[in-house]
Amino acid sequence: MAKSTLSFVCQNCGAAYNRWQGKCESCGEWNTLAEEDTSGSVPVSIRSKRKGRTFALESLSGKSPDAPRLSSGMTELDRVTGGGFVRGSVLLVGGDPGIGKSTLLTQATSLLARAGHRVVYISGEEAVAQVRLRAERLGLSDAPVQLAAETSVEDIVSTLSEGAVPRLIVIDSIQTMWTDTVESAPGTVTQVRASAQALIRFAKKTGAAIILVGHVTKDGQIAGPRVVEHMVDAVMSFEGEGSQQFRILRAVKNRFGPTDEIGVFEMTGLGLREVTNPSELFLSERDLGTPGTAVFAGIEGTRPVLVELQALVAPTSLGTPRRAVVGWDPSRLSMVLAVLEAHCGVKLSGHDVYLNVAGGLRIHEPAADLAVAAALVSSLVNAQLPTDGVYFGEISLSGVVRPVAQTPARLKEAAKLGFQRAVLPESARGEPGGDAGLSLNAVNSLTTLVAEIAARGSRRGESSPPAEKNATPARFRRGEG
Ligand code: TYD
Ligand code: MG
Repeated sequence: MAKSTLSFVCQNCGAAYNRWQGKCESCGEWNTLAEEDTSGSVPVSIRSKRKGRTFALESLSGKSPDAPRLSSGMTELDRVTGGGFVRGSVLLVGGDPGIGKSTLLTQATSLLARAGHRVVYISGEEAVAQVRLRAERLGLSDAPVQLAAETSVEDIVSTLSEGAVPRLIVIDSIQTMWTDTVESAPGTVTQVRASAQALIRFAKKTGAAIILVGHVTKDGQIAGPRVVEHMVDAVMSFEGEGSQQFRILRAVKNRFGPTDEIGVFEMTGLGLREVTNPSELFLSERDLGTPGTAVFAGIEGTRPVLVELQALVAPTSLGTPRRAVVGWDPSRLSMVLAVLEAHCGVKLSGHDVYLNVAGGLRIHEPAADLAVAAALVSSLVNAQLPTDGVYFGEISLSGVVRPVAQTPARLKEAAKLGFQRAVLPESARGEPGGDAGLSLNAVNSLTTLVAEIAARGSRRGESSPPAEKNATPARFRRGEG
């Protein structure tokens, strides 16, 4: 008999304590400790007596017999996985409930099954009828996906060990799986970890690729998929704003590919549609002619993505002004605000500041600093920025605009979408291939940019520039008759 070891395990991060406490010292979450049996699945007697066997050591330059990757048939998904699913690899797809994980995986498995691969979809959350209903809605009922509603890992492994090895197995979701080898309730950290371990062992042994779905929950009641992140080969997060139809698949960890790539999808009535040109999508609902908006020429992985930043700066009625950000790092915003105050004489301490990245995208690049600053100042002085311009550049604490990587790619994308000018760091001017036919406004310090925008503000009213309207790229002109 295995010795039963009870301990208190944090359901958020998996840290174990031998007595209960209100706060997890490891991750800082409150009320996340639950009592669990953490004894391993292997009895102590076997563990200590087992004699090690010898194994062959191999060289790095071996050849694997099969094509290592299985392309899903969805370009955006392949981009994020690094070119398809790797044999014997385990991938975790995390995301809020209702974001579209099951939809994405139903589509991907159907495409693979249609291409003649053995693909299995195990649903632990929904009944077979529900999964069928979704497939019907997506027009994929005819795809020969092997479907089951099961939650016992042992049963799943025995069933899948029969017949040909499946190329891809989807487990939706890992939180609903349970194994007899541990005694904790399904959904607890110990169960999630043990179930994931068993499935990973199966993948490595047979060469089947496995996708685990994991719900991200903030309240810590259900074990977050964080506890399995270090065990799997790749972690992908499926993100999006609830109210928006755009969904972004982002690689958080990937042993077989890059981690900064994103795949962009649009949720439609007929499932997820791949968006091959995200810039066009993020700019499609641009609010032209409003002060406080600037277009940022960013890079997501290897792909340039243009996105609109919207700022609202308004006098505050509160003692401490409000700062609210959607889609960007709040501390980065604080830094840009501090630099504007300290070096450019822009007083913002009496103003509420709101910043939003259009389309539900999350930007991680510091290169967005310049576009954020431009949008903020534009809103403050109530001066519209040129609608045919893009902005990028990192701002240092001293107010200097610093160079960023991949300038030519950013400019090329902007030119492709009909933009005519770019505001960018001084040093980027000399980059090879930097000139993509745009008029470049290289700024050395943030002060220069602020002065330019402020000048536009004071010129407003005297002569509203009709020429500017004509300069708007044709495809973004909306409601202008
Ligand atoms: P789902 O894939 O079930 O989300 P998850 O598995 O991440 O919990 O998708 C849930 C939402 O997607 C649901 O609110 C309905 C919506 N949806 C569509 O808009 N169109 C569709 O074709 C499908 C299948 C779902
Ligand atoms: Mg689901």
